[in-house]
Amino acid sequence: MRIENPVVVITGASSGIGRAAALRFAKRGARLVLAARSASSLADVVAQCTVLGATAIAVPTDVSDENQVQQLMQTADEEFGQIDVCVSCASVHSYGRFEDTPPDVFRQVLETNLFGQVYASRAVLPYFRRRGSGVLILVGSVYSKLTTPLASPYATSKFALRGFGESLREELHGSGISLCMVLPATVDTPVYQHAANYTGKRTHPLPPASSPERVARAIVRLADRPRKAVVIGQLQRTMIPVHSMLPGFYQRGISPVMKALALRGGKVPPTAGTVFQPDPASNEVSGHWRSAPLRVLWFSAAGAAVVGVVRVAGRATGPSGRAAGRRKGLH
Ligand SMILES: NC(=O)c1ccc[n+]([C@@H]2O[C@H](COP(=O)([O-])OP(=O)(O)OC[C@H]3O[C@@H](n4cnc5c(N)ncnc54)[C@H](OP(=O)(O)O)[C@@H]3O)[C@@H](O)[C@H]2O)c1
Repeated sequence: MRIENPVVVITGASSGIGRAAALRFAKRGARLVLAARSASSLADVVAQCTVLGATAIAVPTDVSDENQVQQLMQTADEEFGQIDVCVSCASVHSYGRFEDTPPDVFRQVLETNLFGQVYASRAVLPYFRRRGSGVLILVGSVYSKLTTPLASPYATSKFALRGFGESLREELHGSGISLCMVLPATVDTPVYQHAANYTGKRTHPLPPASSPERVARAIVRLADRPRKAVVIGQLQRTMIPVHSMLPGFYQRGISPVMKALALRGGKVPPTAGTVFQPDPASNEVSGHWRSAPLRVLWFSAAGAAVVGVVRVAGRATGPSGRAAGRRKGLH
């Protein structure tokens, strides 16, 4: 059911998917309450939304602080008298082996990606309950369903978020409140520039990347017609049944794929990225990972990776070299 001029709270609205969603909601006349840490980036997004004809306010918020998230929802309610939709999108990322990742970085990824969304849910539900309606949209990831090496804090946060979301949905059944999960595969946003990195190498998104606008369209559609979950990104989505039905195959293939496609290029020193502090200068909708020459490079690399996975899987599912050798009397 389409709500005219809905009041929409968006966390993570200063960059990437959250920013694209803000602009998309603005085009359909939503009243927007935009949250993230960087006040200057939020002011830019408010100005863009205003040009599109929407009413928007910025509420600088650190989602890892529950008091600030409570204050965010209270401000939204005081300003507009209701909240119709909450898009919980704020997130940080960290690359590196678990043993190389500083404990405080691991913790802050969970504080932001998991507890930030738990706090947003806890803070917004009383406003939804008061009116007997509301749409809560939690932005997870394909890594809510897939494991990955070299990004364990992120995968942990996104798996846990799905557990939280699906459990909460059961409690909301019959309340008039909908809980939707958005599970994108790679999206062309600045998250890869923002990520903490303890791999020693430059990080790149796994191809192919969807556009942030595509995810934003899906989010706005969910506000009108709530669904339990939407996965975005056809190629990586095919990995979900592979992960659950052929876990050994998946596990053997994913490390070489990550190393070949996600970690390449020059060496870089360790960095905490935007895990603790925002970087307003790099906040925008696109991460500029989808330029034409790069797309050609990525598809070639993806082809090479698929061939590699098939060869690795062949070794994994066929007789091991040692066992085969024994049969030939070599060992
Ligand atoms: N891009 C992808 O490939 C991809 C794939 C799957 C899922 N996702 C998910 O999509 C969502 C958006 O990611 P994105 O790609 O758009 O990343 P992004 O461009 O880096 O945006 C992240 C947003 O989160 C905000 N943020 C970070 N820490 C925060 C904190 N402590 N408090 C408040 N806001 C905070 C950032 O703003 P400030 O720094 O100004 O605070 C920014 O607005 C995330 O949930 C991510 O996990 C992304």
